[in-house]
Amino acid sequence: MTIDWLKLDSKHCWHPFTQHGLDPEPLPVIGAQGAWLELANGQRLLDGISSWWACLHGHGHPRLVKAITEQAAQLDHVLFAGCAHEPAARLSAELVEHAAPLASQASPSGSQEPLARVFWSDDGSTAVEVALKAAYQSHLRNGETSRTTFIALEGAYHGDTVGAMSASEPAPFFEELSPFLFHVVRVKPNPEELAEAFADLEGRVAAFIFEPLVQGAAGMKMYDSSFLKEAQGLCQENGAFMIADEVLTGFGRTGTTFACEQANISPDFLCLSKGLTGGTMPLAATLCTEAIFQSFVSDERTQAFFHGHTYTANPIGCAVALESLRILREENTPQKLAAIGARIEAGLADLRENPRVKDLRRRGGIVALELQAEKSGYMAELGSQLRTACRNLDSVLLRPLGNVLYAMPPACTTNEECDRVVTAMQQVVNPLLDS
Ligand SMILES: Cc1ncc(COP(=O)(O)O)c(C=O)c1O
Repeated sequence: MTIDWLKLDSKHCWHPFTQHGLDPEPLPVIGAQGAWLELANGQRLLDGISSWWACLHGHGHPRLVKAITEQAAQLDHVLFAGCAHEPAARLSAELVEHAAPLASQASPSGSQEPLARVFWSDDGSTAVEVALKAAYQSHLRNGETSRTTFIALEGAYHGDTVGAMSASEPAPFFEELSPFLFHVVRVKPNPEELAEAFADLEGRVAAFIFEPLVQGAAGMKMYDSSFLKEAQGLCQENGAFMIADEVLTGFGRTGTTFACEQANISPDFLCLSKGLTGGTMPLAATLCTEAIFQSFVSDERTQAFFHGHTYTANPIGCAVALESLRILREENTPQKLAAIGARIEAGLADLRENPRVKDLRRRGGIVALELQAEKSGYMAELGSQLRTACRNLDSVLLRPLGNVLYAMPPACTTNEECDRVVTAMQQVVNPLLDS
């Protein structure tokens, strides 16, 4: 079947994270409903990875569609410098309320400052960029001029803007750009290593940035929550901020609304995007404490936070995010996602016995199957075999991360659909495990 617009795509579009010299033609997607994507040839694919981890409740959710439509008719967009609007005000309050238990759980005595302010941007990278800039500049506003270093986790991925790339593991994506990236100290999720880094960098750390519990792009690597509790103590002792990048883990993916809940920590900055709008609109939020916000409040204009994007706090994005949060609360989305993850994990459990399977792991609704590979990571040779096998699937969309095949479908996924994901994952790995 010839699809005329696919020729235009091939001639004019430049796709993300795509090697146009190697990769096959993109899938021509013409519609989406629930857990399913519809292709131009009539084929349907179950969205096993929630369209890059964003689609939360399912595609085309009637309540989300209604929220978008109504808001578009009322107020589509207005600049957020010097103007305010109800969807952003209400969503800011709502996010602060959702994040409130973090501080009260982390410190029942009330000594932990809650997240109180929201800075709006467009995507995960910009949410991180805002946090990095504001962390450094907040120290400056407080007279601390030597806090010029960030600590991040090995294998981290925080996005594609310059600050976010600097905080991310350079290999394999960003090494070439190193002349333009700032130096970041990297540690394993291990309290001794982090303590050592703080000791080496005495008084010079602006913030420790991390993906809590699950390092997505690293291959859905999972680490123990106890590390984060110790990390919070170390950040506090050393006067450094904690930046939790919950762009992937936020809104229930790990079984709780925020992954930080499971670690009993309350960060100074919380970066959110992806599931924020249920996966429908590009929107991101960087939450911070009132003290951080106040450090920029001054009678001198030069002390302001000079950052803002054209679509900052886009009203349509905010309106649909408000509705998505209502659904999350009413339907207990984190629990639904965890049940989906548990069913997929159980379906794959037999594979644990296979010597070529390195690990089968799960956090909430994220299930990852890691295969033994000579060279692991995104560029693992096995990765291209897995990619090809995924592309040959006729009923589920999966996209491996190197030698790791994972599933993270939306919360509307039924038991029967979970079983399809299991079958598809088995179909992908079995020939490689038997060969
Ligand atoms: C943890 C994390 N932070 C930041 C980002 C960047 O988000 P975006 O692609 O929306 O810029 C991602 C994207 O996958 C991510 O997983």
